[in-house]
Amino acid sequence: MTIAPAPAATILAGDADWWRQASVYQIYPRSFADANGDGIGDLKGIISRIPYLSELGVDAVWLSPFYPSALADGGYDVDDYRDVDPKIGTLAEFDEMVAALHTAGIRLIVDIVPNHSSDRHEWFQAALAAPAGSPERDRYIFRDGKGENGELPPADWTSIFGGPAWTRVADGQWYLHNFAPEQPDFNWRNEEVRQDFRETLRFWSDRGVDGFRIDVAHGLAKDLADELPSQAELDELPKDGFHPMWDRDDVHEIYAEWREVFDEYDPPRIAVAEAWVEADRRARYASADGLGQAFNFDLLEADFDADQFREIVSFNLDLAAQSGSSTTWVFSNHDVVRHATRYGLPPRGADKEVKQGKEWLLSGGSEPALDAEIGLRRARAATLFELALPGSAYLYQGEELGLHEVAEIAPEARQDPTFFRSPGEDVGRDGCRVPLPWTREGSSFGFGSGDAHLPQPEWFGASSVEAQDDDPSSTLSLYRRALALRHELQSDETLEWLEEISTGNVLAFSRPSGWVTVTNFGDEPVDLPAGEVLLTSAPLEDGRLPAATTAWLRAA
Ligand code: GLC
Ligand code: CA
Repeated sequence: MTIAPAPAATILAGDADWWRQASVYQIYPRSFADANGDGIGDLKGIISRIPYLSELGVDAVWLSPFYPSALADGGYDVDDYRDVDPKIGTLAEFDEMVAALHTAGIRLIVDIVPNHSSDRHEWFQAALAAPAGSPERDRYIFRDGKGENGELPPADWTSIFGGPAWTRVADGQWYLHNFAPEQPDFNWRNEEVRQDFRETLRFWSDRGVDGFRIDVAHGLAKDLADELPSQAELDELPKDGFHPMWDRDDVHEIYAEWREVFDEYDPPRIAVAEAWVEADRRARYASADGLGQAFNFDLLEADFDADQFREIVSFNLDLAAQSGSSTTWVFSNHDVVRHATRYGLPPRGADKEVKQGKEWLLSGGSEPALDAEIGLRRARAATLFELALPGSAYLYQGEELGLHEVAEIAPEARQDPTFFRSPGEDVGRDGCRVPLPWTREGSSFGFGSGDAHLPQPEWFGASSVEAQDDDPSSTLSLYRRALALRHELQSDETLEWLEEISTGNVLAFSRPSGWVTVTNFGDEPVDLPAGEVLLTSAPLEDGRLPAATTAWLRAA
């Protein structure tokens, strides 16, 4: 592997707008690279792969949780917000990683999980040890139960991972957990909780972290009356800013306080909200006096379809203009079926659950048939479309290898709580979290010197970095070339649809720099406009753009 020099354009100090059109690479640390051979990816592993990230050409890394955790939810159950999991590394290694990334011209965004801690967090342990009504319990959401002896939960709510959302403790009280029981929800009306998270933001900002990805950003503020609604009633309540738990208007008071902390730094620290809210309510999370940017999962939920893509892009560019933020694009992350696989399954229209391909995964990959080849072909076309759009692109580790979801994980090897709590009906998210293949063969395909913590399938070797490194037609080469060109061609945050070409199954747009992108979503080849062809997601056929292919051109 050749080591590319750090891109000259990324001067790390001073540029407050660096995030607006950044390409951000998500690392799921336990599955990226394992330096000490214990089967779990670690910070040393990340440090050793920084040359790889440089050569890939990403502007920033988003690091999923690396905090001490029992891994009841892959690290989204945090024991201590200001430390590194000893299974992953040390604070000194974290500092070393930040310095090495910055030297390579790559910024770092870390994941903050403020909706809930883990049940091993010292505050939750203190809450368990303290009596009902104590200040220790007030940091979480404790309630007496119903029924004669409080033996029934305060409400019949179900958690997002399935199963009840209330769990009883030894003295008979119950606590709320919107996710797993190991993830008690914080009480954000408690001033100590608010204070403590601001300290956490400073702690990492002082260590040189450039920004934060805010987990479940729409869930923090809650307003729970004495008499709680039933789950059925909850489901019926409008999401207009006053729902008892989700997307409440007062959540933005928290982010206004955080903004003050972000602005203590130069350049200000950035934040991106993971907020699964109605599209028109995203702008508030993305506003400059709040978190500043919000994920938009619309393309991730769409079929590979010209009309859907166009509508989503136009809508989100308008939305970004309203908030003054830049928009974000995502096709894959650690929570969803990889897009190479989704696009190889039949389109499912509005049925989002099914469209995630979960039933295919449950059946071990046989039904409905996965067309892996067309899936990858479309994924490459979609990615090239995405990387030409204004705004920032969030990429998930392994998508640059064109990796497919791993379907063949035995039940006893699975780790995701959704699998266990559904139980077994939702296959969960392990299939996109399998440790990366770095080499064609050898122990854990070069991930580490021992077995990987999630089993890797046979076919991983053929998708490995080693197998793709020197192959100009590989997906890895496509990503490298695209990310490098993107730096050259990126201009202000506008695009113009090229109406004459954007008909039927074809979408074409240009950026002010003269950068033209044409995507053929259909089955038949189409003509390209005049211009110098810079890059294509699949070879042209007699100078024409084949099915499921994107081309980048410089306008003639
Ligand atoms: C977010 C994370 C997901 C996690 C959940 C609970 O949705 O992306 O992985 O399970 O929050 O923290
Ligand atoms: Ca390790």
